[in-house]
Amino acid sequence: QLQVLKDQFGRKHDYLRISLIEKCNLRCKYCMPEEGIPLTPSKFIMNAEEIESLARTFVGLGVKKIRLTGGEPLLRKDFEDILSRLSQFDVDLSITTNGILADRFVSIFKKHGLKKINFSLDTLKEERFKEITRRSGYQKTLDNLDLFIREGFEVKLNIVLMRGLNDDEVVDFVRFTKDLPISARFIEFMPFDGNKWDRSKMVSEQEVLAEVGAAFGSENLVSLPDEQNLTARKFQIKGFQGDFGVISSVTNPFCGTCNRIRLTANGKIKNCLFSNLETDLLTALRAGEDVEKLILESIFHKKAVRAGMDNLEKLSDPDLHSDNRSMIAIGG
Ligand code: GTP
Ligand code: 5AD
Ligand code: SF4
Repeated sequence: QLQVLKDQFGRKHDYLRISLIEKCNLRCKYCMPEEGIPLTPSKFIMNAEEIESLARTFVGLGVKKIRLTGGEPLLRKDFEDILSRLSQFDVDLSITTNGILADRFVSIFKKHGLKKINFSLDTLKEERFKEITRRSGYQKTLDNLDLFIREGFEVKLNIVLMRGLNDDEVVDFVRFTKDLPISARFIEFMPFDGNKWDRSKMVSEQEVLAEVGAAFGSENLVSLPDEQNLTARKFQIKGFQGDFGVISSVTNPFCGTCNRIRLTANGKIKNCLFSNLETDLLTALRAGEDVEKLILESIFHKKAVRAGMDNLEKLSDPDLHSDNRSMIAIGG
């Protein structure tokens, strides 16, 4: 008998995001400070067996979708072992990656049934890629994007917009989807530890839509039906193969239909991006304690973040902002 993970507001949780690693081969400005972050000692990072064990418990509690995140998940030396263990479960497997190492994994993904890949790519200009990520790798990312499209994967692009940095590329990215069967998602820049967020750097959903409407004609801008448990509201330009979406976590949040559970690389449930409440599953697992009970309690008490970041700010919720992790240690 399958249980269902419900929180105190009746939201059903069936999407688990597992962060595999805190390290990354890039240094994106919106994600981490230049100097990096203090890393959890490796003995306190989940190993493949522990990931499998925790995933099994979540699947028993009704999880239907597992997304692998990081840092950069493909940096895990035992990535294939982990994926192979997760492939035994009846879940929809997906990954969010910067894509630089992705070409080495085409056949591994295929073998273990991973068909959905989200690439983080914030610019279509090589020089700018270096500025945003503080590393090189632009051409490799583009080549790998192309490779995964040709290999028939379901591909999405994650584009974090920042004013003065890449906000002039909205139209270029939409045009980029004209002949490519991909979804380009513009993401409102969110505040995390060390990313120097301020509201004026954030480009809103409204601005994106106004700009696209002006460039292609509002009569050509079609709104696509909302998906269940959406993060992105989707649109298409008439006649384009691909589509685009806006992830408006700041100005128009989707907390009311949130079905996401986050498991950090050091084995803690982090229920909401903007909450510091964490439940340490890894320590409990290693001590032989009842992990399932901890999960049920943690999800049930999930924060009332039903009106998003702005509302929390108004309520001056003490959980907000106070030493939140850097995004690199959350996994998006
Ligand atoms: P799909 O399953 O393909 O829709 O992917 P996704 O949007 O769930 O995940 P992805 O890792 O590609 O993340 C895209 C953006 O959505 C990132 O900026 C995430 O931080 C953001 N995001 C994902 N889940 C949440 C959430 O629960 N709340 C907020 N505010 N943002 C989220
Ligand atoms: N605001 C919004 N999105 C972010 N991401 C990383 N940092 C931020 C931020 N500060 C996104 C990246 C990545 C996904 C996992 O999270 O685009 O694709
Ligand atoms: Fe690495 Fe992704 Fe963070 Fe960029 S956003 S530094 S690619 S984890």
